[in-house]
Amino acid sequence: MLKIAVLVSGGGTNLQAIIDAIDNGMITNTEIKVVISNNKNAYALERAKNHGIEGLCISPKDYESRAEFNEAFLEKLNSYEVDLVVLAGFLVVIPEMMIKQYRNRIINIHPSLIPSFCGTGFYGLKVHEGVLSRGVKVTGATVHFVDEGTDTGPIILQKAVEVQQGDTPEVLQRRVMEQAEWIIMPQAIDLIANGKVSVVDGYAVITEYLMK
Ligand code: GAR
Repeated sequence: MLKIAVLVSGGGTNLQAIIDAIDNGMITNTEIKVVISNNKNAYALERAKNHGIEGLCISPKDYESRAEFNEAFLEKLNSYEVDLVVLAGFLVVIPEMMIKQYRNRIINIHPSLIPSFCGTGFYGLKVHEGVLSRGVKVTGATVHFVDEGTDTGPIILQKAVEVQQGDTPEVLQRRVMEQAEWIIMPQAIDLIANGKVSVVDGYAVITEYLMK
């Protein structure tokens, strides 16, 4: 059984997609041990509570320095002894010592086709604003392992979504979630839970890929 921690900052629709996929069998072999938020008002914490999943808040604002926060954050995460850390709209920079300790065991969902519209400053609606202002016709979402860079780790899954004429950032964000994020995030977790993803020479390799 793959034990996971899901880290969130906001609404938690990706968390909900994971919970639903575990409930309906799209994700197998997986248990959410804890949901961690940096924001005590995140609706994602409500979603966890509604499903009887332990939720907690740990915020940099409650610590005197970033170093103290990083240490407490890592200690808290370690106490749950998880196999995989899932960043589902988590907007805090992951401490380097956490990346080292959880090498190829942290995954992130990003709402564009990496390497487009990613890196510092591209998060949430800003990604979709960038897409619309450049006028690209196709966007999408990416699940990748987290390394020391911003959105630079090995790519596990991607899914394309069409940009439509007249889209607003909000409309496009919703379409990218519905048609890509809520599909590939559960798929990636299921693949990892069943030992089908490995990292070879810096690339994520899927050893067996059966679409459900
Ligand atoms: C999602 O669109 C996710 O891809 C994005 O934040 C949103 C969280 O929504 N993440 C990033 O931009 C990371 N760079 P949710 O809380 O409803 O799952």
